[in-house]
Amino acid sequence: MRELDAVERVGVVGAGTMGNGIAQVAATAGYDVVMRDIETSFVENGLDAIDDSLDRLVDSEKLTEDEAGATRDRITGTTDLDELADCDLVVEAAVEEMEIKQDIFADLDSTVPEDVVLATNTSTLSVTSIASATDRPELVVGLHFMNPVPVMKGVELVVGEHTTDATTALAHDFAAGLGKETWESDDKPGFVSNRILMPWINEGIRTFDEGVATKEDIDRGMKLGTNVPMGPLELADHIGLDICLDATRTLHEELGDRYTPAYLLKRTVEAGDLGKKTGAGFYEYEK
Ligand code: 3HC
Repeated sequence: MRELDAVERVGVVGAGTMGNGIAQVAATAGYDVVMRDIETSFVENGLDAIDDSLDRLVDSEKLTEDEAGATRDRITGTTDLDELADCDLVVEAAVEEMEIKQDIFADLDSTVPEDVVLATNTSTLSVTSIASATDRPELVVGLHFMNPVPVMKGVELVVGEHTTDATTALAHDFAAGLGKETWESDDKPGFVSNRILMPWINEGIRTFDEGVATKEDIDRGMKLGTNVPMGPLELADHIGLDICLDATRTLHEELGDRYTPAYLLKRTVEAGDLGKKTGAGFYEYEK
């Protein structure tokens, strides 16, 4: 296995919200980063999001202009997976579809040197299944970042059936080097975070749909009453309602009826209102 002190170049597959966030924090930590997505426009949007986030960090004096500039210079965008061939560690953050993730991991397995650890940012899917598309399941691990990646302090470490202790330790040390703390989960549906968070959000949506309180009072109640930064409806909008629905569906499929998606969640996604990113979810947002 390639050790962490030999890691200079990090590959990130996917330039969406999670992928660009991971690319940004890895580059801020000093790694050269190659961020790959399937279309040039996705890569460009990802680079733009990184610019915006770095600007915010400079505005709030968490980074200097020079540090932000150096971070940006360390990130290359590409649509070519072969550009990850000389990466020393790869984090995949593509869409949450098993078939797509398995295809990506099969491609990575034949592109990236055989001693390189491949991490997946999957939020609910089986790390063991994703790893089965490779000939190196012992080097595959879950590194589940939280959104917004540059701000959130924690990363969930998911240990697959064949993940070795050395791989888990490397993933832990890599996350620590990005300034993140980790907690460990077995490779069970939703891991720790989404197994608990998604039903909380789902129940918040049901509570609104069943007329128990206004959406504002549900969110205020949970914030004031349990000291969380966002209530369930605000958080659903922040994460993306499509992502919440996909995650809840996976949990429902794997764990049964206690995870049945709320009717209003399905209806809102069907209406194309996916939360902050589309300008409307349970609330309205400026785009
Ligand atoms: N990049 C850089 N800085 C950012 C940022 C970004 N993308 N987003 C927010 N910030 C900074 C702001 O600039 C601000 O900095 P300042 O305090 O120095 O001025 C600070 O973060 C706080 O932001 P805001 O003032 O805009 O707003 P809030 O105080 O409400 O914080 C929040 C925003 C950090 C998103 C906070 O509301 C929060 O922590 N919400 C909960 C988020 C959460 O639970 N995430 C996990 C979701 S689950 C998940 O991701 C797993 C997946 O599988 C579903």
